[in-house]
Amino acid sequence: MKVIKCKDYTEMSKKAAGLFAAQITMKPDCVLGLATGSTPIGTYKRLIELYQAGDLDFSRVKTVNLDEYVGLDGSSDQSYRYFMNENLFNHVNINKNDTHVPNGKAADLAAEGENYEALIRSLGGIDMQLLGIGNNGHIGFNEPNEFFDKTTHEVQLTESTITANARFFASMDEVPKTAISMGIGTIMQAKKIILVANGSSKAETIYNTVYGPITPQVPASALQLHPDVTIIVDEEAYAAIAEKCGK
Ligand code: PGA
Repeated sequence: MKVIKCKDYTEMSKKAAGLFAAQITMKPDCVLGLATGSTPIGTYKRLIELYQAGDLDFSRVKTVNLDEYVGLDGSSDQSYRYFMNENLFNHVNINKNDTHVPNGKAADLAAEGENYEALIRSLGGIDMQLLGIGNNGHIGFNEPNEFFDKTTHEVQLTESTITANARFFASMDEVPKTAISMGIGTIMQAKKIILVANGSSKAETIYNTVYGPITPQVPASALQLHPDVTIIVDEEAYAAIAEKCGK
């Protein structure tokens, strides 16, 4: 794992966007795995700037998102499809038909999970996957568990995730309690993985991800077994590594 410490959120976002821009430039028809949440917004902003400056072409890029809330689709402004349209897809020359988000409204979520895995395979796999990380170490919506979930599946969100997500909803009751998410196995098959994290609330989980035991109680710790992971953090998210490792 490579850990890059940046001075702040802006530098973290520029660094992550730079890696995605290089991926698109080197392989214009690449498959990007994308993430939602507050953390990647700056990365998407920077990619939009590069596109507007004429430095990036998304016309042949394909995307697959990590997850979606069960019960929501693109017509809901809380859905992850809506988030992606608002924060990236509406602002670049990507073909929306080439952008994929799991269907949170699927009647049969197990079949939707299988279809999503088949879709990723049919695209030739993910070239570069962007990840945020939850305070509890989740990636996608793979919550701490007794085992690592392999494929795209329905998940019950934990209280800590529901509480963290409540800030985006009018009331706690409106926060979905279940989601559909790529599994840890799906994520681990991406050729390259870029994880971004900022702020002191992520410091402990970043330390555990990089230096802790590999355990499904910290889902992101599985990334230690992946051959090409870059973790980009600001100084606050790096703080526990600095303190415990003296660097
Ligand atoms: P955040 O969420 O970027 O809003 O902190 C990250 C996550 O839960 O994966």
